[in-house]
Amino acid sequence: MARHLITSALPYINGIKHLGNMVGSMLPADVYSRYLRQRGHDVLYICATDEHGTPAELAAKEQGLPVDEFCAQAHDAQKAVYDGFALAFDYFGRSSSEQNVEITQHFARRLNENGFIEERAIRQVYSPTDGRFLPDRYVEGTCPHCGYDKARGDQCENCTRVLDPTDLINPRSAISGSTDLEVRETKHLFLLQSKLQHEVEEWVAAHEEEWPQLAASIARKWLNEGLHDRAITRDLDWGVPVPSDTWPELAAEGKVFYVWFDAPIEYIGATKEWADLDPENRDWKSWWYDVDTDVRYTEFMAKDNVPFHTVMFPATELGVREPWKKVDYVKAFNWLTYYGGKFSTSQKRGVFTDQALDILPADYWRYFLIANAPESDDSSFTWEHFTATVNKDLADTLGNFVNRVLSFSKKRFGEEVPAGGEPGEAEAKLGEEIARLLAEYESQMEALQFRKAAAALRALWSAGNSYLEEKAPWLEIKTDKDGAALTLRTAMNLIHLYAVVSEPFIPATSAAMRQAFALKDDTATWITADEARALTALTPGVPFTVPPVLFAKLTDEDLETYKERFGGSSE
Ligand code: 2FM
Ligand code: ZN
Repeated sequence: MARHLITSALPYINGIKHLGNMVGSMLPADVYSRYLRQRGHDVLYICATDEHGTPAELAAKEQGLPVDEFCAQAHDAQKAVYDGFALAFDYFGRSSSEQNVEITQHFARRLNENGFIEERAIRQVYSPTDGRFLPDRYVEGTCPHCGYDKARGDQCENCTRVLDPTDLINPRSAISGSTDLEVRETKHLFLLQSKLQHEVEEWVAAHEEEWPQLAASIARKWLNEGLHDRAITRDLDWGVPVPSDTWPELAAEGKVFYVWFDAPIEYIGATKEWADLDPENRDWKSWWYDVDTDVRYTEFMAKDNVPFHTVMFPATELGVREPWKKVDYVKAFNWLTYYGGKFSTSQKRGVFTDQALDILPADYWRYFLIANAPESDDSSFTWEHFTATVNKDLADTLGNFVNRVLSFSKKRFGEEVPAGGEPGEAEAKLGEEIARLLAEYESQMEALQFRKAAAALRALWSAGNSYLEEKAPWLEIKTDKDGAALTLRTAMNLIHLYAVVSEPFIPATSAAMRQAFALKDDTATWITADEARALTALTPGVPFTVPPVLFAKLTDEDLETYKERFGGSSE
């Protein structure tokens, strides 16, 4: 048993996320956490809403709400959707919490004491039309590196290069579109990342071999470009205030920390939020402080977040000169596209997570998304692919198997696991196959290869179908009642195994399968290789019920309705 700290990138507070966000961070983190918990590990899965920054301010303004009220409501709305997706966070916090304010300010003070923060007067883009300084991401223009014409002043979404707003060609305000921009002088705190370059390089070098190629290559690219000193404060009303004990002048001017400075610290902050709810039994520091080898820390994120997690946040943690836990493994994802085009929050293209749950229960989405996770490359969501996958894998291969076995057995043998027959050659062959596939599933899960893990799970379900087709108990029963009883009992044992091992992907369906046998909550007990080979955990006489259809088949009409509602192309 090991201790696993797991975090998924904090979703911005401004609005419900789309399926692309879900598959690139929270959902795989949840699948992995559930799996590790089932294997008996001590897991802490932490996430939170990322509440600071201009997007939050602007969204609040749009809704005519004070920003703190807007954030409180928007946090609850996101949390409700994540509950709907059955994301089993140990805690889902808020980056605006007092805990995060305290730890962020502590980090800044320590960085300052250690000589890694400097006050500098800078010239910043000011928009008279908007009556404000424009944060980097609210200056838009053409990327000097790749020519993308909607690059933001902080980073180019297209080539992932980190930018400065003054790098942009033909800059304009993203708020008003105004090109009447001036540059004014204002004082800010700078994090002297250049001084930390060498240490970060050493740290990355010690870890990158273990990271997936996507994360390692982005970290390398960023380091090769050289770490630049970066302003970590902003002229905004909403954010973690610069502490007045250390920087009285800046504090009096109302400066706050840049959202990307306090957001990763909220991984720690949220853990403290969690612990503060039950301080007698929860020790947040035991997960984060001076725990280098006792805790394994895995982060989940989409590729645009990788530079911040592999380079910038580690630089901050190193510069603090205290033994804060740093990430061990960075699981990064490519993009999920919508018919080959971008999912877009601002352009409302694609499927949002709340809409998804209006249409179908979470397990349909969870399975489809993970089975098609954009791991080695971008992957595309289409309604055709979605409905075909649901029908084939979930409705036919798993759902139909469960229903067929239990209904037929009930009809012929009553509502208990049937007695009779001794396992023979077919059962031995099946047991070997199941044990082999289970081992494959386990090793893919442990390697965080989600598509391959899903394929192994699907193969486990298929093996049951092949066995059933081969034994054909509906024919067998005519000549060999004991043989049919054995077949059905073995198939029921497969259902029991599926209930346990499918849980990380489709937790509600797993619960329904478990309930069919009135089993106590035994998902914490994984299936051993010997149990998988034997398939005899459910013994004759155990009562069962036939659950309602586990997955409804989606019709051509459903498909047309979805396409009409959401648009069935990238345009
Ligand atoms: O890109 C995003 O959605 C950011 N809100 C992720 C923040 S992750 C962390 F560092 F907080
Ligand atoms: Zn670019």
